[in-house]
Amino acid sequence: MIRMRRLRTKEAIRSLVRENHVRREDLVYPIFVIEGEDIKNPVDSMPGIFQWSIDRLDEELERVIEAGIQAVLLFGIPAHKDEQGSEAYNDEGITQRAVRYIRQKAPELLVIADVCLCEYTSHGHCGLVCGHEILNDETLELLGRMSVSLAKAGADVIAPSDMMDGRVEYIRGALDEHGFTNTPIMAYSAKFASGYYSPFRDAAHSAPSFGDRRTYQMDPANGREAVRECENDIAEGADIIMIKPALAYLDVVKEVSHRTNYPIAVYNVSGEYSMIKAAAGNGWIDEKRIVMENMVAMKRAGAQIIITYHALDVAGWL
Ligand code: PBG
Ligand code: ZN
Repeated sequence: MIRMRRLRTKEAIRSLVRENHVRREDLVYPIFVIEGEDIKNPVDSMPGIFQWSIDRLDEELERVIEAGIQAVLLFGIPAHKDEQGSEAYNDEGITQRAVRYIRQKAPELLVIADVCLCEYTSHGHCGLVCGHEILNDETLELLGRMSVSLAKAGADVIAPSDMMDGRVEYIRGALDEHGFTNTPIMAYSAKFASGYYSPFRDAAHSAPSFGDRRTYQMDPANGREAVRECENDIAEGADIIMIKPALAYLDVVKEVSHRTNYPIAVYNVSGEYSMIKAAAGNGWIDEKRIVMENMVAMKRAGAQIIITYHALDVAGWL
């Protein structure tokens, strides 16, 4: 008889045949930085996650470094929003100042800067708006300016999350033109129009004031199109591609991992985090066990990089 159980008899043999592992180095931790002073504002829908003002950021950076996390993904929340999202590409904007601060405070930390307009626009959309239409080509120039401004501030990696067509090529051109030929682009390539983002929109104050994001983010029903999105971003010059959300889209991760040798990141998004925190808070699930199961599932599907709000907890459990 083929006895599969022979290799399960004790931990030593189970670990010998274990196929996938989660490492601290795989993890990226998102941080929200908000304009203002003396702010450590808990995000109600995301227990353990806060909005930080720059003057209090040390506390969070210390936790990150102590946990052995080496990469953070930065989101800025400006005080002033307008139609064009001007603060996004202001060299003195909240995100640029936060990047500079982290650079100087924790030079060994990899700073990945999210590039998108929705936290900065009064209408909350990821691009320029005309009537009820989200403009594509007109938005590219602003994304280019934002990317260059963040690279100038010291961002190590530029991560466009807007889902405008052609933005990777445009941003690559803008970075190169300004001498940032060595700054990689981690593209949110297959980003789905998902209900799992709603806690993030509380955290980042980025909910659209009208309509939704379905004219630029992907239809959750489409796996083949997701492969095309990844292929397009690679053709445009992306260095790392990302699939987002993670858990409901691991089939896409698997498929893409078979078709490309580029590094793949997954974004284990806010809603995925909140559901676990809520269930764990009620004592209904074993948080550690379920989080670690999800982490290894993302690795098994083919992701190398895991962006997750659980990063500090996971690092503590490893
Ligand atoms: C902004 C952006 C979003 C997320 C990352 N960047 C929200 C959105 O597209 O509405 C979601 C992250 C999360 O839910 O944790 N473009
Ligand atoms: Zn956006």
